[in-house]
Amino acid sequence: MCLLLLCVFLSCLPFYLSAQTDRQNEKPIIGVLAQDVYLPQPSQTAYIAASYVKFLESAGARVVPVMILYPGGGVSIVSSGYERAAKIFYELAIEANKRGDYFPVWGTCLGFEQLMYLTSKNTILAYTNTSGAALPLNFTNAEDSRMFKGFPAQLMKDLASEPLTVNSHKWSLGMLTYNTNEELKKFYKVLSVNTDGNVEFVSTVEAYDYPIYGTQWHPEKNAFEWTRPSIPHSPSAVKTTFYMAEFFVNEARKNFHKFETEEGESKALIYNYNPVYTGTKSAFEQIYFF
Ligand SMILES: *[C@@H]1O[C@H](CO)[C@@H](O)[C@H](O)[C@H]1NC(C)=O
Ligand SMILES: *[C@@H]1O[C@H](CO)[C@@H](O)[C@H](O)[C@H]1NC(C)=O
Repeated sequence: MCLLLLCVFLSCLPFYLSAQTDRQNEKPIIGVLAQDVYLPQPSQTAYIAASYVKFLESAGARVVPVMILYPGGGVSIVSSGYERAAKIFYELAIEANKRGDYFPVWGTCLGFEQLMYLTSKNTILAYTNTSGAALPLNFTNAEDSRMFKGFPAQLMKDLASEPLTVNSHKWSLGMLTYNTNEELKKFYKVLSVNTDGNVEFVSTVEAYDYPIYGTQWHPEKNAFEWTRPSIPHSPSAVKTTFYMAEFFVNEARKNFHKFETEEGESKALIYNYNPVYTGTKSAFEQIYFF
């Protein structure tokens, strides 16, 4: 249950394209996929942890919650509503990008695992002892990555030497699996790896030919979540949250989809909902329920 509650998948929404590649969209809106609530109650069937929303807002984006339209028992990456919704966005993004319509997608934790599954069409995860582990990143190809190119040199040094990235998962994509899976190898460049002392696993990726990104760790937690002692809050840890958010929001600024009407936009924004303080009983300080 922990794994499932700690993760989300983000993507830009395919509303309308006005192809302008030399400009920036200074009003990016990013869709965040809601997840099924483990024990649903009336008016609480899906949720988004507020830290994902704050993460994006802190770098200048607005958020629209994306509801899962299919009832699904539990969140599985193989057969849940989350999986179906993620698959729809993943395929829309691939198609859009092939047409030259820049359509970024981000997966965190479960979202990362979901992306790996969608690319390889295979359940390929290995058990790791990583529920509640802050780790330094073991960078592999970061110097020529899009993701880390704009990071300050000192922050890159800190990321490589201090435990600034918090892991809240029990299942991981082993390097061994990545190295022996042609689909994954062709599609994703591995930017960092980590180990639980036993299994080496992929911790950060970017797609070679698409603006598709994934982290097995949680960049949003350092600045916004306080419920677990493993979450780092040092100045470098908080900068990590911000530079990751800034990177992805800048990617979203290259996308010009928009709502057809202002009314449609204002009705869809997450501002229509209020987060609830849940820090005393959940891993998240605040949660949006739908
Ligand atoms: C899992 O990792 C923690 C440290 O993060 C360690 O204390 C614990 O002994 C490990 N458990 C196993 C079964 O290896
Ligand atoms: C970092 O990853 C490389 C490549 O897998 C590995 O050879 C090396 O031992 C790792 N370094 C650390 C400090 O874990």
